[in-house]
Amino acid sequence: MFKNLPDYVEDPILGLFDAYRADVRTRKVNLGIGIYCDEDGRVPVLASVRAARERIDGTEPCIYLPTEGLPGYRNAVRELVFGGATTDLQERVVTIQTAGGTGALRIGAEFLASTNTKPQICMPDPTWVNHQAIFQAAGFEVSHYPYCTPDGRFDIDGALATFKALPAGTVVLLHPCCHNPTGIDPSREEWGRLLDAIAQRALLPFFDMAYQGFAEGLDDDAWAVRECARREMPCLVASSYSKNFSLYGERVGALSIHAPGLEVAKVLGQLKVIVRRSYSCPPAQGAMLVATVLQDVQLHAQWRAELDGMRLRMLGVRASLHALLTRELPDADLSFLTRQRGMFSYSGLSGAQIERLRSRHGVYVVSSGRICIAGINASNIAQVCEALVETGFKPR
Ligand SMILES: Cc1ncc(COP(=O)(O)O)c(C=O)c1O
Repeated sequence: MFKNLPDYVEDPILGLFDAYRADVRTRKVNLGIGIYCDEDGRVPVLASVRAARERIDGTEPCIYLPTEGLPGYRNAVRELVFGGATTDLQERVVTIQTAGGTGALRIGAEFLASTNTKPQICMPDPTWVNHQAIFQAAGFEVSHYPYCTPDGRFDIDGALATFKALPAGTVVLLHPCCHNPTGIDPSREEWGRLLDAIAQRALLPFFDMAYQGFAEGLDDDAWAVRECARREMPCLVASSYSKNFSLYGERVGALSIHAPGLEVAKVLGQLKVIVRRSYSCPPAQGAMLVATVLQDVQLHAQWRAELDGMRLRMLGVRASLHALLTRELPDADLSFLTRQRGMFSYSGLSGAQIERLRSRHGVYVVSSGRICIAGINASNIAQVCEALVETGFKPR
C-alpha cells in the first residue's frame, strides 16, 4: 500500500531552515527564512501583543469559531487593508479569517477555481516559492510575467507587455509591498499603469500582502490595494499577520474579496462552504490577539509604534550593510541594498557563492540569492560582510 508515491521534494526554504538548526557552529547566521528578528537576533514578542494576551481570559472554554472567523477580527483587518470604516466597506468587501496568508491564498484560489472551468493565473517571475504550488493544487494553469530588469529595477515594460496579451478573466498575482523575494516594488506611477492595463484587459488582481507596514508604513504599503478599490475594480487580497504581529505559529491571516455591487451573502456563503470542507473553522488564539490590539486605541497605537520600530531597524541594517560593503568593494554598485524594501534583498549571489557562504562561513542564504535583511544585526553584520567579500560577491 502507498508504494508508488513520488519522492518528497523538500521545500527549499524550510529545508534550509532545518539545515541551519542542525548546524552545530556557534557563529552561524540565518539569512534564509522570512522571519523578522530583532537586534538581539530573537523573534520578538511585541509588547502590544503581550498586553492583549494578558487581557484575554484564558479560563474561558475555547469553543469553535464561526466558519468565517471572529467578527471583530474580520472588521478590524478589513479596515487595516482597505482603510476607512466598516460601515463603508461592508457592502463591497467580504473578509474571512484564514489560517495565515497561505490559507487565504488557498481559499481564494479554490473560490476562483469554483467559478471558472479553466482558471488561469499569471504571477511574477520570480515570486514566493509557494505561489505556484498553491494555485496549481487548486486547478490553475500558471504563467509568469517578468519582474526585474537586469539592473535590478521593476520591469514595468515586461509586465505590461505580458498583461496586454493575457485572456480576459486571467487572475494576476501582485505583491502590494515588499516583493518576495526581490524587495523591488513598483512606484505609484507604475502601479497606476499596471491597474490601467488590468482594467483594460478585464484581468482580476489577487494581491498577496504578507508584509504590510514593513516598507513605508501601514497605509502607504496598502496603496495599490486601496487604489484598486478606489477605482471600483474587483480584486482579492490575501493578508497575513504573521510578520507584522510576530505571530508566525498562530496562523493569523485573512482573505478579502472586493467588488462593487458584490453579492455579499452569496460570496461569504461560498467561502464558508470551502472552509467548512477544508478545516471547518479557523484557529482562535491569534485572531483574538490581533483583534484585541486593533480594537483598543492604546494597544493599536503601541503596535503601530512597534511595527515602525521593526521597519526602521531593517532600514538601518540596509544602510549599515551598504556602508560596510562599500568600504570593501568601492567600485561596486550597491545601491540595490537601500533601494529595495522590506525584509528581503535580492543579492545576485551565484549558486557556488551561496554554497561557500554556508559551508565555510555558516551564513545561510536561499538558492535564489535572496537575503533576509531582518536576520542581520550589529553582532553579525561584520561576519556577513566578510563572508560576502571572501566568496567573491560581485553585485549586478
Ligand atoms: C509573499 C508571501 N505570501 C504569503 C506568505 C505566507 O504567510 P503566512 O506565514 O501568514 O502563511 C509569505 C510568507 O513567507 C510570503 O512571503
